Amino acid sequence: MKFFLDTANIEQIRQAQEMGILDGVTTNPSLMAKEGIKGKSEIMERYRTICSIVDGPVSAEVFATDYDGMIREGEELAAIDPKITVKLPCTKDGIKAVKYFSGKNIKTNCTLVFSIGQALLAAKAGATFVSPFVGRLDDICEDGVGLVAHIVNIYNYYGFQTQVLAASIRNTNHIIRCMDAGADVATCPLPAIEGLLKHPLTESGLETFVRDAEKMK
Ligand code: G3P
Repeated sequence: MKFFLDTANIEQIRQAQEMGILDGVTTNPSLMAKEGIKGKSEIMERYRTICSIVDGPVSAEVFATDYDGMIREGEELAAIDPKITVKLPCTKDGIKAVKYFSGKNIKTNCTLVFSIGQALLAAKAGATFVSPFVGRLDDICEDGVGLVAHIVNIYNYYGFQTQVLAASIRNTNHIIRCMDAGADVATCPLPAIEGLLKHPLTESGLETFVRDAEKMK
């Protein structure tokens, strides 16, 4: 299972990269805005910086919602770096754009996926990644991880190559449940990844080892 960081924050990306567990990054307009990034040149610059740190796919989302706009923006984004994955919404125009980019061998991430039907169309259009939003489904009392499992099953059954990228991950438990469901990738906030490390027996065990090591100095 691959770990992507779901952020445009350079410090957090560096930290995850230094841990040696980072396989890629995803961003979206909300995450870019949260970093105070403004205007096209700052956006492009931020993607260049992220690509220089990360050794893996970097999802860059188009702002346009119409087909022509998505193609124009997607081509500009893809030209930044071969690591760029063009992130497109799961709408009719978005699916057409996924098909267009997959025909040009440009990686795509079909985002805002909330149903098995949307995931099926994304795969048929040749998306590299499909992004079911786990947390947002949980928010409305639906089963986010259940959707991930359903997509994994259907893709395996029909042999689709599209990778299931569990998104809108809010906590460590989401990561573990998505792993059990067979997701190819989880894109996560850094604290959710760090939560995987936490265990009280590791902490108390280490305290004992440190104390005993002191005795031998
Ligand atoms: O990966 C998509 C993500 O950024 C959305 O997360 O927490 O806003 O639902 P959230």
